Amino acid sequence: MEIVETGPDDERFAAWCAVWAASQRAARPGEAPRPASDHVALARRLTTPGGSRTGTHRVAVVDGEVVGALRMLLPVRDNASVAFLDVAVHPAARRRGVGTALLEEGVRLAAAAGRSSLVAEVDEPGPGTAGRAFALARGWTCDLQETRRDLLLPVDEERLSALEAEAAAASAGYEVVTWRDRTPEALLADRALLSRRMSTDAPSGDVPVAEEDWDAARVREQEDVDRARGRTVLSAGALRNGRLVAFTDLHVSLAQPERANQGGTLVLGEHRGHRLGARVKTAVLRELAATLPAVRRISTYNSDTNRPMVAVNEALGFRRAGGLSTWSTRIRPGRRRAVVRP
Ligand SMILES: CC(C)(COP(=O)(O)OP(=O)(O)OC[C@H]1O[C@@H](n2cnc3c(N)ncnc32)[C@H](O)[C@@H]1OP(=O)(O)O)[C@@H](O)C(=O)NCCC(=O)NCCS
Repeated sequence: MEIVETGPDDERFAAWCAVWAASQRAARPGEAPRPASDHVALARRLTTPGGSRTGTHRVAVVDGEVVGALRMLLPVRDNASVAFLDVAVHPAARRRGVGTALLEEGVRLAAAAGRSSLVAEVDEPGPGTAGRAFALARGWTCDLQETRRDLLLPVDEERLSALEAEAAAASAGYEVVTWRDRTPEALLADRALLSRRMSTDAPSGDVPVAEEDWDAARVREQEDVDRARGRTVLSAGALRNGRLVAFTDLHVSLAQPERANQGGTLVLGEHRGHRLGARVKTAVLRELAATLPAVRRISTYNSDTNRPMVAVNEALGFRRAGGLSTWSTRIRPGRRRAVVRP
């Protein structure tokens, strides 16, 4: 087996995407995997200097065939001790040590980049996933357990208008605004603060991550990345005296217009207790129905400890659809990099 570097303009990258798609299809057969164009656009951003993250990709090749895929993401503005790792092995090539070899490569790459923690997520449609067994076998620790919930659209009108009325009554004095793809200039600095708070206030269990460093330029960078990845982002916010104090984002891939993923939702600490979470979520659902009516399902992930958010989601009709676990391992930084180059 060979582990070889690849990138968005390399001929092997299509095979990297195909392994990823096959792995996703095996886990959730009813769902279209992430389109290759999304992986390509992300890879281009990660390999272009100047962004808030860099990244690198590897393929595992056995008998000339690509059977495994690795992506490493390295934050550069914050979290300088962490590397995020994605590993997938083609379902037909599992239990032959390919995942282990990729993980070892990930450890080498992270150490060479001076990182001391490696973090990876495992999608868990049900109990007993290969990813969990693998992470446990490799001695990783589970730092966070989240539940995925799906909402089938259209939302029950009675349910939505009841929640909307309740939230509006509890949050008099706040104004709701919506936007798509580009945060209004006047709200940009406030939106950056909300992203910063999102990185500290959303329950992250024992995942070894620290506050993210957001400013207006990073919000614009994120918007550019989303556009390049073929995503449209629908947002709703709550204003108090003209300042943005709460937001929620929905992401829709233009290649899969029937599906949406919940992005962040946050109410600033000093404005909690006025049902603003429900207010912005009901507002974005109205906007979604009006502007992107093809969407049939929204998926969201919450830690079970995040009771206020789970309560809003359940009131809207979101139902459990498996989970997502986050795992980490400590590594010793500075070990020599050993990689076979193409
Ligand atoms: C998780 C994954 C990468 C493992 O790849 P792999 O090539 O099969 O892994 P390995 O052959 O190196 O397995 C190493 C050990 O992990 C454990 N393991 C892996 N898959 C397992 C499974 N399905 N059931 C039980 N144990 C398993 C075993 O202890 C195995 O050793 P063994 O085969 O000698 O018993 C692969 O199943 C996959 O792509 N899953 C979907 C993506 C994913 O969850 N990635 C998360 C990475 S943290």
